[in-house]
Formats: sequence, structure tokens, C-alpha cells
Amino acid sequence: MNIKEIIAKKRDKQILDKQEIEYFITEYTNGNITDYQAAALIMAIYINGMNYEETKNLTLAMANSGQILDLHDISDTIIDKHSSGGVGDKITLIVMPIIASLGIPVAKMSGRGLGITGGTIDKLESIPGYRTDIDLEEFKKNIKEIGISLIGQTKDLAPADKKIYALRDLISCTESIPLIASSIMSKKIAAGANKIVLEVTCGKGAFMKTRKQAEELSKVMSEIGKLAGIETVCVITNMEQPIGKSVGNSLEVEEAVRALKGEMEEDVKEVVLEISAQIIKLAGISCDLEKNKQMALEQIHNGSAYNKFVELIKRQYGDVTYLSNIPKAKYKLEVLSTKKGYVTELDAEKIGKTALLLGAGRMKKEDTIDHTSRNSFRKEDRR
Ligand code: URA
Repeated sequence: MNIKEIIAKKRDKQILDKQEIEYFITEYTNGNITDYQAAALIMAIYINGMNYEETKNLTLAMANSGQILDLHDISDTIIDKHSSGGVGDKITLIVMPIIASLGIPVAKMSGRGLGITGGTIDKLESIPGYRTDIDLEEFKKNIKEIGISLIGQTKDLAPADKKIYALRDLISCTESIPLIASSIMSKKIAAGANKIVLEVTCGKGAFMKTRKQAEELSKVMSEIGKLAGIETVCVITNMEQPIGKSVGNSLEVEEAVRALKGEMEEDVKEVVLEISAQIIKLAGISCDLEKNKQMALEQIHNGSAYNKFVELIKRQYGDVTYLSNIPKAKYKLEVLSTKKGYVTELDAEKIGKTALLLGAGRMKKEDTIDHTSRNSFRKEDRR
């Protein structure tokens, strides 16, 4: 078997078998396939697609590219949550502390920014000192001792996703159901949770532009979840406009902190409460979604969710003093309307692209995120 034949097969719209997919993932993870060959194959998959069988085999090969954590010694219920990506999507930063503050263990492996969408890992790394690359022993210890850990893909957990994810970002291969499903589900399988809620975003600022595509992605991920023995719930959310008030790494942390202290935008609140309620249901606490939403809200109002967030940041070496003193941007451009009226729409795709140009994402492999730049947007209220 060799990579040139595998690339040619997918280029010619043929179906890849399990062995060919496993060969690609193993050899690319081990550094025996070059980035340009992997890029060619990823582009061929992007253009010609994969059927369910191929997507399932790709996901399992990626999950098996590193260790698969067994967290049963910590609890019978370990929760994870993932978003298929959006503009201004800081939901994870708010939901996960709420859930952990209820005593439900959270084991979460997130990603970096991808295309026009932001990544939880980049957001967390805007907090000075916060380490998303702690080793697996520490990941497990944090879940056991404080009920939550939040990390990125590592060389031990889903290393194939770490490489393919970065490559897809740079070669514009983000909006693909098999590539998104395998990326998300390989991380979820590897990180050891047995119950997950997936936020499947839909609209201009998401990879799935239509409801039909979002439903198809949800279906593929749910089926893979079932196969892997993971109880999976998908919530389709609106990403036509950026969610919340700000877009950009440190601004979103700032907004998440405000939300955890009780000051939450209505659109953010709706998604946070729906996802929290679904997770609480999955955890077996209560099937009543309305009651679960109140439970989640109470964790914000009594301060427990914010305290859990601070505990997580401290535990993973972040500087918590930063949370109450996030520096302002050096340069600020206010765009004021010249006439009276209402803003009826904010195009999430255009805002995502501009945030990317301002430094919130990467254009090439060597690029680093400028965490000191508060690159981004804030919707200011003016009357
Ligand atoms: N999140 C991921 O982890 N992978 C994707 O491909 C998209 C969103």
C-alpha cells in the first residue's frame, strides 16, 4: 500500500477501505507521510466526500492514533460537550463550569480556531499561564479532584486530529461533513467521556450553512457516538449572526466571565441553558429540561459556576488576576452610524473573516495567535 495510490483513488471518487484509511492515519501521525501528500488527500476527501463507512473508519483510526482514556474509575458518568464551530462561540467556557459545579465530572478536549471560527483552546490560552497541554495523568487528576479539566489535542490523545485539524485550517478544507465528524468524534472517543452534547452550529458563521447540512452532520456524529458506546445528543444552534457581544479570544473570555457572574446576553443564555439542560438530563439528574435550565441558572446566581471556572484556571496554571483585569486593546475604531435606525443583521461570516485578518486565527502554519491583541469586535449599545 502507498499514499500515492490512496490519493489517486480518492481523487478519482473511489471508496477507501478500512486498511487504506488506517494506513494513512498511522503513517501521517508517525511522520512517514508528508504534509503535502496529506493535504492532497484531505482536499480529495473535501471535494469528493466519504460515505458513512469511510467516515466511521476515519474517525476510529483517528481516535486510535493515540491512547483512549478510560475514566470509569472516576465516575460512571463523564460529560463532554463540543461545538462544530462558530463566530463568537464562547458557550463551552460558560457551560462546562456550570456542569462541573453541579458535581458532574467534565473531561473536555477542545480545538484551536478553524477557518473563520474561533477555538476554545486559543481563547483559554489568552489567559496568561493557562496550560492546555498538561499530561494525561494531570488531566485525570484534575477531573478526579476538582471535577473538570479542559485541554487540547495532545501527542497522546487524538494526535492525528491535531495534525489534520491544523492542516485543514490552512488549506481551506473546513466545511466538510466527514472531516468535521471524524475530527470531533475522534477527540470525544479518545478523551474518555461516555455522554456528550454536541452544539451543531448552522448559518453564515458556521461550517454547516443550512439546516439540512446541520441535520446530516448531527446524524453522522450520533451514529458514530452510538457505535462507540457514547450517549450523544445534538443541539442545532443558529449561527447566522455572531453569538453574544464579542468576537476574538480575550474579549470572549471577558464575556464568558461576565456571563458566569450573571450578566449574560439573551442569545448566549438561550444556548447555554439548552445545552446545560441537555447535559443535566444525560447525567441522569432530571429529565425535566425546564427544571434543568433553572438548576443551571441557579449555579450562576449563587456564584458556584464562576468559582468553578476560577478553580479550573488556577489548577491549569492560569493567572486568575487576569480575569478581573483583562487589558484593553491598544487601538480601537468605533464605527458609528451616520443616521438613525436599527441594525437588523450582522453577517457572522464577514465578522469571522475580519477577526481572522486581525490576528484571531492563522493564515499559515507558522502563525501564532497574538494573544495580547484584543483583536475583535464588540457590539456596543448606543441609544
Ligand atoms: N470542531 C472540531 O473539533 N473539528 C472540526 O472539524 C470542527 C469543529
